[in-house]
Amino acid sequence: MRAIQIVTTRLSSCLRPIRFELVSSSSSPRLLSNSRRLICTAAATKSDGGRSGSIVAPLVENEEVQKIDVNPPKGTRDFAPEDMRLRNWLFNHFKEVSRLFGYEEVDYPVLETEALFIRKAGEEIRDQLYCFEDRGKRRVALRPELTPSLARLVIQKGKSVSLPLKWFAIGQCWRYERMTRGRRREHYQWNMDIIGVPHVTAEAELISAIVTFFKRIGITASDVGFKVSSRKVLQEMLRKYGVPENLFGRVCIIIDKIEKIPVDEIKKELGSTGISEDAIEQLLQVLSVKSLDDLEDVLGGAGEAIADLKQLFSLAEKFGYSEWIQFDASVVRGLAYYTGIVFEGFDRKGNLRAICGGGRYDRLLPTYGGDDIPACGFGFGDAVIVELLKEKNLLPELGQEVENIVCALEKDLQGAAATVATALRSKGQTVDLVLESKPLKWVFKRAARINARRLILVGKTEWEDGSVRVKVLSSGEQFQVKLNDLE
Ligand code: HAM
Repeated sequence: MRAIQIVTTRLSSCLRPIRFELVSSSSSPRLLSNSRRLICTAAATKSDGGRSGSIVAPLVENEEVQKIDVNPPKGTRDFAPEDMRLRNWLFNHFKEVSRLFGYEEVDYPVLETEALFIRKAGEEIRDQLYCFEDRGKRRVALRPELTPSLARLVIQKGKSVSLPLKWFAIGQCWRYERMTRGRRREHYQWNMDIIGVPHVTAEAELISAIVTFFKRIGITASDVGFKVSSRKVLQEMLRKYGVPENLFGRVCIIIDKIEKIPVDEIKKELGSTGISEDAIEQLLQVLSVKSLDDLEDVLGGAGEAIADLKQLFSLAEKFGYSEWIQFDASVVRGLAYYTGIVFEGFDRKGNLRAICGGGRYDRLLPTYGGDDIPACGFGFGDAVIVELLKEKNLLPELGQEVENIVCALEKDLQGAAATVATALRSKGQTVDLVLESKPLKWVFKRAARINARRLILVGKTEWEDGSVRVKVLSSGEQFQVKLNDLE
């Protein structure tokens, strides 16, 4: 057993306490007082080439030890290599689908001015804002969603861009949420948006993109569906009851909470906006409608809402995803800016929260002072979909993949091994170069772990001849090849 020595010191000029835990083979850490640096050598602990190395740390005096919490802040995640592989797999599908549909990638800063996210409708998202004053006394916020940034950029671009724009983005969003399954304080969202198309053809294409994504990852119409409605249904109802237009956003936000809080609360909140009891009853009745024919009856004729929805269902047939979508008047969405068709992806077992959601937001750009440009889009989070894939046993098995492992058989051939690795990399081959002298047993283990296809050994005799030994790991086949001929 090696001794474990803990060194505790204090650095008066340092704000944060630092702890060094040093594993020493025999002697104490050497203290070089003249250079004010502490040097400790951690010796190898395993015969098969275990860890070894040295730690160089600044000398600290009178510093108290304070163990750090190794977990990331509540609701946030680290992405260790295995998590990163899954994330990249998911994002590559997002990107590939967006590319198939001809969308261009954009990005915005995670930090925006707070004002961009402040809307008057009492949205939940506003209460969840991570916001603060920066050192220049500006109010800023970590973005809770990407749509306001998109609107800002479109306005900034002005006439320099030709419409319609078809943009996609994948970005991290921050919301101080109550943590539930698939809901976190930080998540990534895939967004696809169309700016400048006022017709339902745009919403129809967006849903088609999401269906394409689901199919690629093995999710079917029996696992997932889309609930679709139009905010114009509510608009027509409010008009019918003489409710002022400016209450529209607020009413939508209240109604969106219908599955989260008791109906009496909803009625009370709606009442506080000044809407009559009769109108409230009628509104709630409309929300329970599940077919377009019934909706037509309740609304007393086919208005714009019905026309839009009928067109969407007809286009869904042409795109080939009819079995994925259903009309559901209770879908209104929790963001104030939607004006027309709204939709949400849900798991048919009903175990998870919304998988994705979007809709038309024709008034967002003008409310920021931009031109009256129609827009629609969706946001698709990275958390709920992973929960669903887990549930369906559809998570891919993703190992590290490096094509070659290159190893010098003798210490003084490490330079030669580097030359071999460089030659292969310049030909586009991925290479893991063994950087220390290691026993072959260790090299084989590592090759298996990184799923290497070939082991390339640099030995004295072969190298003198400008050659290396190649071992194909799947078949065991071995051959000698000149470096120049190594592909
Ligand atoms: P949203 O419904 O607030 O819409 O979010 C879209 C999706 O992001 C959700 O369906 C969910 O997948 C994911 N999501 C939201 N919050 C969280 C969270 N706390 N943890 C994990 N995932 C979450 C929007 O954000 C709109 N801006 C979407 C949009 C784009 N509409 C038009 N264009």
